[in-house]
Amino acid sequence: MAEWPGKVYFIGAGPGDPELLTLKARRIIEEADLVIYADSLVSRAVCDFARPDAEIRKSAALTLEELVEIMATAVQQGKTVARLHTGDPSIFSAALEQMAALEERGIEYEVVPGVSSVFAAAASLGAELTVPEVSQTVIITRVEGRTPMPPKQDLRSLAQHDATMVFFLSVPMIDRVVAELLAGGYPATTPVAVVHRASWEDESSVVGTLADITAKVRDAGIGRQALILVGRVLNCKKENVPVQRSRLYDPSFGHGYRTRVTFNTEAPRHGEREGGCDAGTAG
Ligand SMILES: C[S@@+](CC[C@H](N)C(=O)[O-])C[C@H]1O[C@@H](n2cnc3c(N)ncnc32)[C@H](O)[C@@H]1O
Repeated sequence: MAEWPGKVYFIGAGPGDPELLTLKARRIIEEADLVIYADSLVSRAVCDFARPDAEIRKSAALTLEELVEIMATAVQQGKTVARLHTGDPSIFSAALEQMAALEERGIEYEVVPGVSSVFAAAASLGAELTVPEVSQTVIITRVEGRTPMPPKQDLRSLAQHDATMVFFLSVPMIDRVVAELLAGGYPATTPVAVVHRASWEDESSVVGTLADITAKVRDAGIGRQALILVGRVLNCKKENVPVQRSRLYDPSFGHGYRTRVTFNTEAPRHGEREGGCDAGTAG
């Protein structure tokens, strides 16, 4: 039971393009009395959905204590607070510490998911991050900076999996990312893409390999607000790399939503279906 009349919504405000807000996010922004947005990464245009009389505040220069105090005061006055985080609040957003502080004060909150920049970057590259027989695993991580990496999560160890890797907060240290991945076993020919400000009007990207991406990124002048994507999945659209088709849409593979199509006289009876390891759950 909430102790106060208002409520805080932690909202994934998407990667930049306001049209990538969810309908729910937009409705809550429209209804909010106070909108607090991470002005370092969230587009100001997202706040244009707010009521003309709503209070709009930036969060980049605030401390956790100041931020929590602002939200708590508003909620105690019965206000609805839309706290806008870039992308999705579950990825490198520091939302958890805000939630913990609100909980301590008995303040109700709810999280509304958003489109992470990882998905905007993949969309901009026209890439699928999980391609059958190439990679079925995506590792979302960062290079160690002032925030230390937990034990067993150093990049050299993560590189052993030959998975698709996505690096947040790491472009300024791309030389270290490359050195660790090479030391961990990725060949120098491994494709790499760096997407800057995915989904914004001034979005740009650089593609290369582990051998040349550092120089290309430096030449392009890309610093912050960019993601590094690594892995063989990025090469799959090139002419000489055959794309392995999935079982999901393979006519000879039946599953919970579609009967197997056979091309001989031993066709399954009407309604006969096959189960499968990933049948009915992929999309
Ligand atoms: C504090 S993290 C926030 C990530 C966010 N929660 C998400 O899901 O995208 C900030 C980092 O996310 C990445 N990022 C955020 N928005 C981006 C965008 N539009 N294009 C490329 N990278 C972005 C950059 O690596 C940036 O340094």
